[in-house]
Amino acid sequence: MNKLTIITPDDWHLHLRDSPFMEAVVADTARQFGRAIIMPNLSPPVRSCADAMAYRQRILAALPAQSHFTPLMTLYLTDNTSVEDIQAAGESEFIHGAKLYPAGATTNSAAGVTDLAKLDRVFEAMQEHRLVLQVHGEATAPEVDIFDREKVFIEQSLCRIRKDFPELRIVFEHITTLDAVEYVRAGDGFLAATITPHHLLINRNAIFQGGIRPHHYCLPVAKRERHRQALLDAASAGEARFFAGTDSAPHSKDAKEAACGCAGIYSAHTAVELYAEAFELAGDFSNFEKFMSCNGADFYGLPQNSGTLSLARNEWLVPDSLPYPDSSLVPFRAGETLHWKVVDGE
Ligand code: NCD
Ligand code: ZN
Repeated sequence: MNKLTIITPDDWHLHLRDSPFMEAVVADTARQFGRAIIMPNLSPPVRSCADAMAYRQRILAALPAQSHFTPLMTLYLTDNTSVEDIQAAGESEFIHGAKLYPAGATTNSAAGVTDLAKLDRVFEAMQEHRLVLQVHGEATAPEVDIFDREKVFIEQSLCRIRKDFPELRIVFEHITTLDAVEYVRAGDGFLAATITPHHLLINRNAIFQGGIRPHHYCLPVAKRERHRQALLDAASAGEARFFAGTDSAPHSKDAKEAACGCAGIYSAHTAVELYAEAFELAGDFSNFEKFMSCNGADFYGLPQNSGTLSLARNEWLVPDSLPYPDSSLVPFRAGETLHWKVVDGE
């Protein structure tokens, strides 16, 4: 196969940051995707409808001329999120969900939720207003091993949320384990999961290959090879509950290559091409379009995009770095050869 044409895909989990950093990255996503769920972990976070509307306007203003890209907004849940905030979000055309960051789980999550029990009325309101709950599914208690955080979160938190709010639509974001794949498979139509390109392509060895590799460090961290295999099976099998969400999370080269480097992988530059590499590894492109362009829209209750995106088999070298204010940005697979290239979108 030398050419792939799919319905214009969507990115169901994306970090764009804010001006002036957003201006350096937004065109990479807009070139390939029709829409993206824009993560709200700015500093300070996107907590209210007014915050989300203002952020959406800044994104639209930063888009290249002629771009048809649509940002889909989500609120950042805190201990103080009110039922009124949720009601307003439910009534807004632009807000599609709310994101749960357990406090301390990841970048800019300090304002996240400290006690899930405090959110019962918020979850109830989200269920009523048909907002999607996007979950960073990692337990944060310091005694939990970093490689077990996702599994423990399922047992301690996700099971309870789903039992108490059975009709709350939940996206288990950036899953990294066989446990999560099995849990989502065993669920119902109210549960789905996003999978990143990097978790389809690397296992935890990549973080330590010949030395410490900060550009392979993200949260949740990559796991063992058998977990990567399970993710690749789930993505490529065409199951409706799994879809693309890059979790592209830019941090400057300086912030990554530091004694305490930031978590996050910048994949937006090559996102669809990376997913194509992964499906090539799986040896089957028959469900590529479902995973990239259909399953997510169906779960979110949005129409599929009307345009198409084409990729051609074409070897090309990913640049070592990209422009970024005050520093530079190292993309995933920097300096390596990819085998698929986006050739045109409409
Ligand atoms: C994300 C970021 O940098 O905002 N980092 C990451 O490693 N994925 C936050 C997140 O999604 O956990
Ligand atoms: Zn993320």
